[in-house]
Order: sequence, then C-alpha cells, then structure tokens
Amino acid sequence: MADIDPEIRSLVEQFRADVLTGLSQPQKTIPARWFYDHKGSELFEAITSLPEYYLTRTEIGILQGCLAEVASLVGPGRVVVEFGAGSMAKTPLLLDAVAPSAYVPIDISGEFLRESCAPLMARYPGLAIVPVEADFSAPVLLPSGAGTAGPLGFFPGSTIGNMEPEPAAAFLRTMRQTLGDNPMLLIGMDLIKDEQRLIAAYDDAQGVTAAFNCNLAARINRELGGTVPLDALAHRAVWNAALSRIEMHLEAMSAISFEVSGQPFSMRAGETIHTENSHKYSRASADELLARGGWEPVCRFSDQAEQFLVVLAKSGI
Ligand code: AVI
Repeated sequence: MADIDPEIRSLVEQFRADVLTGLSQPQKTIPARWFYDHKGSELFEAITSLPEYYLTRTEIGILQGCLAEVASLVGPGRVVVEFGAGSMAKTPLLLDAVAPSAYVPIDISGEFLRESCAPLMARYPGLAIVPVEADFSAPVLLPSGAGTAGPLGFFPGSTIGNMEPEPAAAFLRTMRQTLGDNPMLLIGMDLIKDEQRLIAAYDDAQGVTAAFNCNLAARINRELGGTVPLDALAHRAVWNAALSRIEMHLEAMSAISFEVSGQPFSMRAGETIHTENSHKYSRASADELLARGGWEPVCRFSDQAEQFLVVLAKSGI
C-alpha cells in the first residue's frame, strides 16, 4: 500500500463509500460522477459524436452562431473560468471570440487538466492559462490579478442537467461565489423534446451509451474487488416525464448475488441500479433554475429546432 498515490487511494475510498451506501438503498443508486474513469471518459467522448447524441454538435452550432454577439455583450478583457477541463471543440470557440485576459479551467482531475491545457497553451501562446485543480462544487479561490472586468464563467454541455434541481441551484450559487465581482455566465442547457429522440440519445444503436453505463459495474469489479455478473445487467434509458429527466439504470435480467469489497448484495430480476439523471428544461424552467441560482438571463440562444439552449446570464439579485 505504501507506494499508492494518496490522492488515488482517497478517490478509491470515496468510490467504495458511495457504492456500498448506494447499493444498500431500497432503490440502488450510484452517483454518475463515477462513470468517468479513463475508459468511461473515452466512452463519453465517443458518445459526443454519435448520430443520436444531438447535444454536443447542436451546442457547438449554437456557439458558432452566437459568440460574436456574446463577445459584444460581455466586452473584452474578462477572465474566462471554465467549470470542468475544457473540450477542445468548445473552449477555443469562446477564447477566439471574447479576447479574454486569462483562461482559468477548474477541474478535480489534475491529469485531465494538464492533458486539456497543453494543446490550448500551444494554440494561445500569448494568453495566461492558469489551471486550477479543485472540486468546483465548493467555492474555489481564483488566481488574483488577471484583468479588471468581472470573470465570465463557462459551463457548457448541459452538465448542470446531471444534478438534481436543489443541488443544481446551490451549485449555480457556488459558481457566483467563485467568480466574485460582476460575474457573467455562459451555460448550456438541454431542452425538453419528444421522448423518442431523447431515449435514442441515451440508448444509441451502436451500444456506446450501454457500454458507458455498464463500464460503471465493470469499474466496481476492477477497483473494488467486485463480483458483479456483468452479463446479467442490461442498460436502460427511461424518460421520467414527471421529473423532466432521462434516467439511466442497470437492470438485473435475472436474480443475482454478488459482493463488493467483501459485502454481499443481491438483486431481483427486473431490479435496477439507478446510475444517472439527465434533466431537460423548458425555457421557463431554465430561467427558473438560473434565478434560484442567483443568475439573470441576458440573452438566450437556441438552434432552429429548439433542441438545446445556451444562456448568457449576469449576476441576479
Ligand atoms: C455529461 N452529461 C451532460 C451527459 C448527459 O447527456 O447527461 C452524460 C451522458 N450520459 C449518457 N450519455 C451522455
């Protein structure tokens, strides 16, 4: 044990605690953050270019169309603070448009930060790029001295949708706290649409999303000494209209028993492990969530088919 990186050890212990607690609930649940090991991150990357997964390319299209207007609304010289290490498909679009004084990506994974910053540093040699390794769900102290205009937060991808409404509003308030004086926020939010289209986006024909979901069970076996019978679990994507969200589950196809870290668990045929929520918004519910998080929309941008929404917001009351 002596030569295991303490950071990795504590991450495994958090994973173990979440899995053992989650599997002991009447509705078995594992937080979606545990999808993203190396394999899970690769599978998510693959999801973003699937024909059924409209979110990424629709948001990129909206950004391409709206960033000139965003730039004129926010003005030059802001520090761009991205919550999560930036995707190479989206961050350069924003940096090119808004002429920032610095770029500060915040991510809990130092490795992921370094990987995503290296190409940006090469591409923008004159720009101060200051990665901050931190859990952005709590207030983060930003590096001082970069620019006088207030910061512009960037939170694309409808990642906010993976949070329940209360934590999502609390997180938006935390973002405001992190950003400090005169902040603005550019945020991507997925819109409610017909059920078939939503289900297809989370249950694609090639089975990449199924592999992404099942990788969570495989990760339990790899990292926590689990004996989950992977062949007995099936990927399910369900539209929960009452809560306006796509839910992902792993469903037991037969009665199964297994162990995780020596602790026994069983599932009846048809019982599920709830692995993710992906909330979808109307324009009104998006505004309402932003208001509860302390943000006031300045401008809303969408695609022609109204599939996805990008909102520029300023600090509200
Ligand atoms: C990261 N997040 C916004 C994705 C989503 O659409 O909720 C994660 C995902 N889950 C399945 N496919 C993609």
